Amino acid sequence: MRHRRQPTRNRTGWTSNVLNELSELFVAHAATVQRPVLDIGAAYGVATLPALAAGATVYANDADPTHLAALEAATPPAHRPRLRLLPGRFPQDLDLPPASLDAVHASNVLHFLTGNELTAGLALIRRWLAPGGRLFIQAGTPYQQPFQAFIPIYEERVRTGVPWPGWIEDTRAISTHKKLGQIPRSLHLLDEQVLTNLLTTAGLAVEHSWTYCRRDLPRSMHLNGREGVGCIASSYTE
Ligand SMILES: C[S@@+](CC[C@H](N)C(=O)[O-])C[C@H]1O[C@@H](n2cnc3c(N)ncnc32)[C@H](O)[C@@H]1O
Repeated sequence: MRHRRQPTRNRTGWTSNVLNELSELFVAHAATVQRPVLDIGAAYGVATLPALAAGATVYANDADPTHLAALEAATPPAHRPRLRLLPGRFPQDLDLPPASLDAVHASNVLHFLTGNELTAGLALIRRWLAPGGRLFIQAGTPYQQPFQAFIPIYEERVRTGVPWPGWIEDTRAISTHKKLGQIPRSLHLLDEQVLTNLLTTAGLAVEHSWTYCRRDLPRSMHLNGREGVGCIASSYTE
């Protein structure tokens, strides 16, 4: 299928009509589990719709309820009984029972959270996952063409041990990319080390993490093959 970018309605970047590599792993896992799975920042359903088609029960969360309305409208009637919409901002607006989920998917959404929100959110995910449950994360790193001017700042912060080295207070001050108006002023670019620290602190085990250039990233954002970070973590079996 030809990749097509779809702008979000609340200026939180773009979603795609094609699964990225990490989301593909989430969908394959969702096909094998019994308990519900949670898709954080589901947008129009790029991962939720295939997970439903694979037989999973999916809780679709998004900060913009109009995205979820479009997702619901695109869901085949036969799959709707397994879809639950959870509008609201993660982490503060979501409340789920402990050990109620077999998987959580967060693709291209954690950038919109501050460091404190990430810490609080990961602790909640840890609580919501049943033993052996898995978390799938895809996030952008600082190594993307529009953020090149930020790389020396980021690398210096890493070198000196700044806790959230990828936090950009004002994207307009470091980039002139023509589509900058489609993202928020502040953005949290992530990396393997920050994600590993977050996951470990939350009590999750990192199974696999890697950097790559995801297949649906626009060419104008390509830099050096490390544009994205993928990560799969699991909740310990007790
Ligand atoms: C860049 S899109 C990514 C959509 C999809 N997950 C993907 O991989 O293409 C970001 C989505 O996350 C949602 N979002 C942003 N911040 C959020 C938050 N704190 N909680 C829940 N959803 C959020 C936006 O409304 C938007 O639909």
